[in-house]
Amino acid sequence: MTRLIVVSNRVNPPTGAGEESVGGLAMALAAALREYSGLWFGWSGQSTPTFTGQLSMQKIEGVTAATIDLEESDVEEYYNGYANKTLWPLFHYRTDIAAYDRAFNEGYQRANRRFAETLRPLIEPDDLIWIHDYHLIPLARELRRLGLKNRMGFFLHVPWPAYQVFVTLPGHRQLVESMFDYDLVGFQTEDYRQAFEEYVLSEAGGEKVGDDLFKAFGRSVRVGAFPIGIDAPDFARLIKTNRARRMRDLMTACTVFRHLIVGVDRLDYSKGLEERFTGFERFLAADPDMRREVLMLQIAPVSRESVEAYQEIRARLDAISGRINGEYADVDWAPFRYVNKNYRRDELAGIYGAARIGLVTPLRDGMNLVAKEFVASQNPEDPGVLILSRFAGAARQMKEALLVNPNSPDEIADAIRRGLAMDKPERIRRWSALFDNVQREDVTAWRDAFVDALKGVEERRTALAS
Ligand code: F6P
Repeated sequence: MTRLIVVSNRVNPPTGAGEESVGGLAMALAAALREYSGLWFGWSGQSTPTFTGQLSMQKIEGVTAATIDLEESDVEEYYNGYANKTLWPLFHYRTDIAAYDRAFNEGYQRANRRFAETLRPLIEPDDLIWIHDYHLIPLARELRRLGLKNRMGFFLHVPWPAYQVFVTLPGHRQLVESMFDYDLVGFQTEDYRQAFEEYVLSEAGGEKVGDDLFKAFGRSVRVGAFPIGIDAPDFARLIKTNRARRMRDLMTACTVFRHLIVGVDRLDYSKGLEERFTGFERFLAADPDMRREVLMLQIAPVSRESVEAYQEIRARLDAISGRINGEYADVDWAPFRYVNKNYRRDELAGIYGAARIGLVTPLRDGMNLVAKEFVASQNPEDPGVLILSRFAGAARQMKEALLVNPNSPDEIADAIRRGLAMDKPERIRRWSALFDNVQREDVTAWRDAFVDALKGVEERRTALAS
């Protein structure tokens, strides 16, 4: 029987303690793992002074999680370093803060080698191996070096940057060459797939030998766009839970006579939070009559706190949010709530459901599932308006949102004004089209499309050879 092996930097299987605290992607992958009776492998989130390679195996609700601790220097050079100080900013077009340090690249290669060496004994010949995200790009190369011939797929959750941006990475060729050790590489959108194609054809001297098959470095790889979605049926259940309802009622109660504008993002400089806050500030400045009509709630749990750029953006956001309330709040009222806490998915569903506007304005984002969850949480008879960055992967599918340039606080302010003024028939028309897409192109469709494509690789290769 074919098993599915999922590999990602973080491993988040259901905890058994209430699945509403686990992300939608994790739930979908866990469901696939149950179906294929596979395992989920990755970093435990813990570190040790020296690498032990000791595996910790846990079976929770039918999903086997296999994790390893990383050495402290791996966490510094691989996770904080190459993954989050080099690739993350580069893939999000922040070449100005991308750090190029040979030690980071060495740590990245070393950690990938260690993942491969620990994973290798767990693999059986027929297993499908599905590797996730920018932390683990060279993992297939390391596994091939150890003799594995299994079908291996890679899915990139973040953007793949334009050719001219990508070539600013020292060692870009080595990174792309390692992608040719996969059988299938998936991107979130057609734009990212095309950017990869441009690199392969213009820089790597590769060629396209079929609709989706590329040859370079003496090997071939199949490449496709697989837009990720949310777990739509599960979300439909979630919005009806008591906790979601209670949260919706609470938010409705504290915004009587006011419209709720909501944003939910990991606290990251790629999310466009400064521009968004400034956009809201300009909206308040330009519309004195509207000041008492709205409440903006931004939820932004802190993230990657040992990386300086994250400490800096946090300090700037503290300052802007303070300035907005300092300027516009009154003794009995404040226009802005800024919260650095994490909330469960059911609670977030309740908050989205009470909002008139969802603000999802990242400067760059692979997909953005908050946009989809916001839509899935709306009341069909009186839905809210989604304001969405044109630079989020989700904008490709969600054209009925109010699309904005997230670099422009003025455009954001205009969109808030327009969203608040939008009549019900228009809100319903836009929302219906968005909801239809969110339901159709959901996480199960994404996962099945990727896994089926990966399963089809061998037959395809045989067909090409004959
Ligand atoms: O979506 C990108 C991503 O890096 C995921 O791979 C990751 O799980 C998530 O953001 C949170 O980031 P981190 O694992 O660095 O806390």
